[in-house]
Amino acid sequence: MYYPDEVIQEVRERTDIVSLVSGYVSLQKKGSNYFGCCPFHNEKTPSFSVNTKEQFFYCFGCHKGGNAVTFFMEMENLTFPEALKELADRAGVTLPQAELSEQEKRRIEERTRLYDLNKEAARYFYYQLTRTDQGARAREYLKDRGVSEEYMRRFGLGYAGIGRNTLYNYLSSKGYKTEEMEKARLITVRNGKIYDYFFNRLMFPIFNSAGQAIAFGGRVMGSGEPKYLNSPETEVFNKRRNLYAMQFAKKSRRKEALMVEGYMDVLSLHQAGFDNAVASLGTALTQEQALLIKRFYNDIVLIYDSDRAGTQAARRGIPILEQAGLRVRVLRVPDAKDPDEYLKKHSPEDFQALIDNAMNPIDFEMLVLREEHKGGSAEDKVETVKGMAQRLAEIDNDLERQIHIQDTAEKLGVSAEALRKEVEEIRRTTGILDRRPASDNAAQGREEKITARTQLLSILIQDQSLVPIVRKYIEPADLKPPGASEELEVFVRVAQALYRGSEEGRTILAADLISQGADAKDQERITSLLQYPRPESKEDLEKLLSDVIRKVRLDSLEARLEALSSGESTNEDLAAMQGIIIEKRKLQNFMIHIP
Ligand code: UTP
Ligand code: MN
Repeated sequence: MYYPDEVIQEVRERTDIVSLVSGYVSLQKKGSNYFGCCPFHNEKTPSFSVNTKEQFFYCFGCHKGGNAVTFFMEMENLTFPEALKELADRAGVTLPQAELSEQEKRRIEERTRLYDLNKEAARYFYYQLTRTDQGARAREYLKDRGVSEEYMRRFGLGYAGIGRNTLYNYLSSKGYKTEEMEKARLITVRNGKIYDYFFNRLMFPIFNSAGQAIAFGGRVMGSGEPKYLNSPETEVFNKRRNLYAMQFAKKSRRKEALMVEGYMDVLSLHQAGFDNAVASLGTALTQEQALLIKRFYNDIVLIYDSDRAGTQAARRGIPILEQAGLRVRVLRVPDAKDPDEYLKKHSPEDFQALIDNAMNPIDFEMLVLREEHKGGSAEDKVETVKGMAQRLAEIDNDLERQIHIQDTAEKLGVSAEALRKEVEEIRRTTGILDRRPASDNAAQGREEKITARTQLLSILIQDQSLVPIVRKYIEPADLKPPGASEELEVFVRVAQALYRGSEEGRTILAADLISQGADAKDQERITSLLQYPRPESKEDLEKLLSDVIRKVRLDSLEARLEALSSGESTNEDLAAMQGIIIEKRKLQNFMIHIP
């Protein structure tokens, strides 16, 4: 089906996983392993490890693990054959003719065609802009907005003509098929008629971080709705995972990334020398975008328009960026609607000064609250202080929280002690605060729950001497994630078999476990339990086990908490809930020791 195993192995062996990972994660050596902040989930303290001896990576936080090829696939959003090919090229290994499955071949071909198609379309739009009479108005428009010819070229700007299917005709003449253009969302077919998706618009091609054209944004010149029309998502265009101008910003030498709202803001900033500016693509900032930035930056300045929508967008964006491990500062552009407008009136040096003085998120919150309650009455002040207490309660790190409490109290003119009391009270009554936005997809949570359990069973199967330790904390029933489908009952049965074996002093063979599966699908699930690597050192094993036990326990506690808080709560319920919250607290420091 794929490449022969020996070839894959050769590529893996010739690829140094440490140097590969170092391209994305800053690693530090500890013993024979390396540690860094995980690129797959949000964290500030490193729990991502690279095992040099076994050449695999593993994250003790989110439990993602794998080898050089899987790492590269994830980071670059590639299919397995694409990743293998690139790594083989880098390592100087010649791959034999790929033995791809038909489906895979088709997928790669389709993606390649889409990239080519978008590139061809971008070229056409560029030609229309720069070389045709029709394009004169668009050229004029850009000139008025101060875009230089150099930056038109650099950003590949273009013009989609007035005709309803000029692009279609052009691409047809280049040999592209109607279905392909439809898949790229460059045309629309309605009632058997073909229309270009974009017409009479100024075109901004959108590239992925590797520099491949994946979509377009088209602006009307003058009035008209919508102001910007964006390509719908396609096989190669995922809005959540891409940022406008990331292909440039990833190479910038500046220390922090700049996140702005619009295409034109990005363009003007780059032209003014800020080649670190990016924008999300007409949607709210996502976790995936935050992690994309984190691959290249540790710091970010969130720059938002000075209207209400802009303020709210910044407020929502901050936790998402912080969770990706970015240090965030916030900048409201004064004296202008947006950065583009600001740069028309002021110099790049002025803008640099704004960046240097950007606010920390806590001060930003204070500014926003003060504007919301600007009456100056005692009530207004109370509301502001309360709002700040809420925000301060969200800071998890104790030291950081205390420092910000002190600072905020001074700025608000209240006693630090009183503010601290208010903050700690909020933390107590709301339990351990989880700042993850509610939109954080449930699917990912489900996946994490399953991974933790898979990991736990995998270790237990490989080292059954650990069963007596683990069973102190985990019941077989815990192995089925709360709310998971019946299919995962099989995990419970495997745990029962292991526990029984341990009681009877027997080691259970993998083959025996597999027969616990009711059908082929079940058996496949059990087999998949055998594939996780067991950490080499006792220290890593302890850490990993503690992590997964903690996770599994937390899920159970949370499920109970949810059950208790769903209906009318009696006093006993409240007491029970408090008990659970205390248990959750304790779990934070949970560590097991293997004798
Ligand atoms: P703005 O309306 O602030 O536009 O929208 P802008 O970037 O300042 O554009 P100019 O200066 O008027 O040319 C900010 C961003 O929101 C998205 C676009 O990404 C835009 O750059 N947007 C806006 C859309 O996707 N569709 C729209 O209709 C409007
Ligand atoms: Mn603007």
